[in-house]
Amino acid sequence: MSKKPAPRANISALLQEKRVFKPAAEFSARAHVKTFAQYRKLWLESVRKPDAFWRKQAKAELVWQKPFAKVLQWKEPFAKWFVGGRLNASANCLDKWLETAHANKAAIIWEGEPATDGRAGEERVLTFRQLHREVCRFANVLKRHGIKRGDRIIIYLPMVPEAVVAMLACARIGAVHSVVFGGFSAQSVADRVQDSGARMIITSDGGYRRGAIVALKKNVDEALAITDANGDRPAKSCEKVIVVRRTGHEIHLAEGRDFWWHRELDYVDANCPAVPLDSEAPLFILYTSGSTGKPKGILHTTAGYLLGAKMTHKYVFDVRDEDVFWCTADVGWVTGHSYIVYGPLANGTTCVMYEGAPNWPEPDRFWRIIEKYRVSILYTAPTAIRAFMKWGDDWVKKHDLSSLRLLGSVGEPINPEAWMWYHNVVGGGRCPIVDTWWQTETGAIMITPLPGATPTKPGTATLPFFGILPEVVDDSGKPVPKNTGGKLVVRKPWPWMLRGIWGDPARYKETYWSEVKHSYFTGDGCRQDEDGYFWIVGRIDDVLNVAGHRIGTAEVESALVSHPSVAEAAVVGRPDELKGQALVCFVTLKTGQAATQDLKNELRNHVGKEIGPVAKPDDVRFADALPKTRSGKIMRRLLKQIASGMEIKGDTTTLEDLSVLAKLSNPDE
Ligand code: WTA
Repeated sequence: MSKKPAPRANISALLQEKRVFKPAAEFSARAHVKTFAQYRKLWLESVRKPDAFWRKQAKAELVWQKPFAKVLQWKEPFAKWFVGGRLNASANCLDKWLETAHANKAAIIWEGEPATDGRAGEERVLTFRQLHREVCRFANVLKRHGIKRGDRIIIYLPMVPEAVVAMLACARIGAVHSVVFGGFSAQSVADRVQDSGARMIITSDGGYRRGAIVALKKNVDEALAITDANGDRPAKSCEKVIVVRRTGHEIHLAEGRDFWWHRELDYVDANCPAVPLDSEAPLFILYTSGSTGKPKGILHTTAGYLLGAKMTHKYVFDVRDEDVFWCTADVGWVTGHSYIVYGPLANGTTCVMYEGAPNWPEPDRFWRIIEKYRVSILYTAPTAIRAFMKWGDDWVKKHDLSSLRLLGSVGEPINPEAWMWYHNVVGGGRCPIVDTWWQTETGAIMITPLPGATPTKPGTATLPFFGILPEVVDDSGKPVPKNTGGKLVVRKPWPWMLRGIWGDPARYKETYWSEVKHSYFTGDGCRQDEDGYFWIVGRIDDVLNVAGHRIGTAEVESALVSHPSVAEAAVVGRPDELKGQALVCFVTLKTGQAATQDLKNELRNHVGKEIGPVAKPDDVRFADALPKTRSGKIMRRLLKQIASGMEIKGDTTTLEDLSVLAKLSNPDE
């Protein structure tokens, strides 16, 4: 049914990679950090005297309505940073610029997906002053609908400027936003409404994706029907839905519950002072997959997170006033939060925001956008880079990309082939590449080169950012020797770390602070090379990285067994050329169910409906039984080998039934 994955030459290349790229002298001369020695000195200072370092940075980078007294209060695993301070994230992103020359600078240059003349999309530009006005007005809409400090709000929008406006409007009045990626299903929205106890959903009639309309409002209607039917919706939760008009197709508006965004703006003015909030006031919750079936609501708070987004954006992308920065991630992911919204706006940087797909209407849409707006910094994901490689160099070469001066990568390990292609074809051999490692939980970049200072090697995120103390350790928590694989941990708290899992402190402690003593456990495997560079090799827990999206195998398994025909399911990853990893599902059916191709398709769609199109399995394989140990544990290691088409290795003596294994290896027999 599915194509066999092509062999991944890059796995061995990763181990042999010896190429080193030193920062160009012209680049370094103008950079914030100009030499490796300067980076090293600052980093040492930041980890040796964190208190003094962070005090200085937080004072210099953020605008405080009340100064903080104490830098860190650490009661493992609970951190409070910049204790006693008050500030507002929206004021730091917007008000700060009003009395400066930045006021009339473009904050967001937005391009819609539909290509009006077959090539160019619709454009909207919002200056810092205009964005400030929109945020103030919408914050007043929230207030008019009874939203108060601490209330949670679900934002389920396409990539339109209103998504940024909604986030900052929440931040302005102390409401907590939880953005749900537009590719998630009604069921996922329902789960997040329930878990967060959200009082409102902000959505749109629909969004555009590859020319088609994604019916977001319809999903919201379904999501609320699900929570109502479950009786899951506590009183006062999700009484209101605000709807942005984007696609203009007909939708149902429930009387008294649903309101048009543009109509509501008629009732308010643009005067809305930013509320001074505690440093530790929750700023947002972002749900992400873990190794159990239930997504975790990762909690970030105001001051530490904002400092991280701002500082990393400034130093890692080496931003200057004249830059045009483009992060291609969706605002529904943490990358969009930190590098479309909070980081760039706090630095007064002009950002490009694009609504749609990279290959719509043709595979050169990204290059067209870069040429059109003279983008100088591009931040994208390896899975996209590999897709561009496949589509061919000609699409890139058709365009003038001479405005680019720096390239970034995030989301998964970048294979050296893709790195070299990015460097040569997109960057014209002249742009440094920053391969940035971080996670939803870490809030902002953690391991990364600084482009004017750090020599890079294709495939490694290199060295830690200021204040970050990562280490590679064995199961007992001891550091492993150079060039030995182990678990990646972070030894000290940092300002932009997660503060917890929403509503579940025990799970927070268990997941992140129990695996290795007194350390934050990332869930990633890693090795350090002879220069101390960190080579991330991917997840070691039951989480897959499919096209840069984290997908918990347990989530997909529980979606599969919720289908009436399925008895049992096991989900594993196999290497995939484009997506990094692909999802392979082994399914046993209930007695009497026929193992047909139709049912395979139905199961794929079922997972899509339960979680969202991002989690649709690439491959569904039926089996009479799953290989298990005597104690009843599914042997995923074996399934992984089978899924990758590898020969079965290792110990199979604990297998309950060896014939199961034989059948799984030959699924078509
Ligand atoms: C992976 C995205 C290697 C890693 C910001 C991590 C990476 C997970 C890199 C987090 C990178 C992210 N090199 N692996 N540069 N960046 N990862 O929460 O496995 O969506 O744990 O955050 O992506 O994914 P998340």
